[in-house]
Amino acid sequence: MGGSELLGKEEIAEVINVIERGVLFRYGFDEKRKNIFKVAEFEENFARYIGINHALGVASGSAALRVALASIGIEPGDEVITQSFTFVATIEAIMEAGATPVITEIDRSFNMDPNDLEAKITGKTKAIIPVHMLGVPARMDEICGIAKRNNIKILEDSCQACGSSYKGKKTGTIGDIGCFSFDFVKTITTGEGGMVITDDEELYLRSTYFHDHGHEHNPDVPRGKDGKSISGFNYRMSEIQGAIGVVQLSRLDHVISKQRKNKTRIKEAIKDIDGLEFRDLPDKDGDGGDTLIFLFPKSRMAKEAEDILTKEGIETKILPSALGWHYIGNWEHIINRLNRQKGENIYSLDLWPQSENILNRAIAIGISVNMTDDYLDKIIAGIRKAAKLTLGV
Ligand SMILES: Cc1ncc(COP(=O)(O)O)c(C=O)c1O
Repeated sequence: MGGSELLGKEEIAEVINVIERGVLFRYGFDEKRKNIFKVAEFEENFARYIGINHALGVASGSAALRVALASIGIEPGDEVITQSFTFVATIEAIMEAGATPVITEIDRSFNMDPNDLEAKITGKTKAIIPVHMLGVPARMDEICGIAKRNNIKILEDSCQACGSSYKGKKTGTIGDIGCFSFDFVKTITTGEGGMVITDDEELYLRSTYFHDHGHEHNPDVPRGKDGKSISGFNYRMSEIQGAIGVVQLSRLDHVISKQRKNKTRIKEAIKDIDGLEFRDLPDKDGDGGDTLIFLFPKSRMAKEAEDILTKEGIETKILPSALGWHYIGNWEHIINRLNRQKGENIYSLDLWPQSENILNRAIAIGISVNMTDDYLDKIIAGIRKAAKLTLGV
């Protein structure tokens, strides 16, 4: 759960301050707000923390994806490639932009399979969205190489990997533009909220315009007289979110280090179990540590193990508990829409056998900051019991 576990008096004080100043809107009212701009402060701090030139606070991670797609000029007729295992928002954002989602398999990293990515590029591919699922970076060297060779932009969906990194660079900073979510269950939270980050000034400016009805935010004219060159919509972040974000960001390193420590403790205690395999980590030092994933040889065993863990009072996270919202093979409504859009039945739920095989054999345990030693021991004992009964070891 990360940041939501740590919500405390600092966040409360910041929210009260915003309300007492009486300006909840991110732009304008300079005198009334005593020139204090919390969204702008959150953006500046976030950009510095993450190591990028520009950050734009938005209403949610979904909004961040939509804004980023607009900034790189995605339009109807374009194809955008993403992966089979992601939260439904990644694909919804592509469809909201009017583009066609093209979906790759995942590999044992539980992120985009670069081989399948290469196979799915066409003349219409305008962007690739690798998703850093459950805190772990995707195989960015391979993905960036493919994108570069084909002159295609990369938008990183880092909504589930705030603070994670890949080979020394924070996720979100590796491609052309990156997106984060601060919803209630993310590494840090502003209740709802998101961030778009980029080093590219043009992409940043287009993001700022698009997220605010096209407003160009000219500081020399009142908002009502502002210029406009593109249309947009309202994806703005509010000052309350910005104020909470400033405090939560100051907690991010602590969140990551506690999660990593707790995860390592469990992993070390179960690594000797024969037949249980861990998820591949493209950069083990960059793992945000919020989830431990392990695989059984057969899906039947994973199902049995899940039942045992549930009986022991140990919750699983996304795999398999919420796979319904995180795997295209479960989204009949999206498949039907894509078929309607194409005018022929070319999509079906069974187009990703490699992903299906990996996901159905996997169990994910959520790791949090405030796990007690007793609870960590309970998880370890629960996994050992489940492995013994299913694998016979
Ligand atoms: C991978 C991924 N992308 C996008 C989103 C959307 O973020 P939000 O809930 O802030 O709209 C989420 C949220 O769960 C996510 O996990």
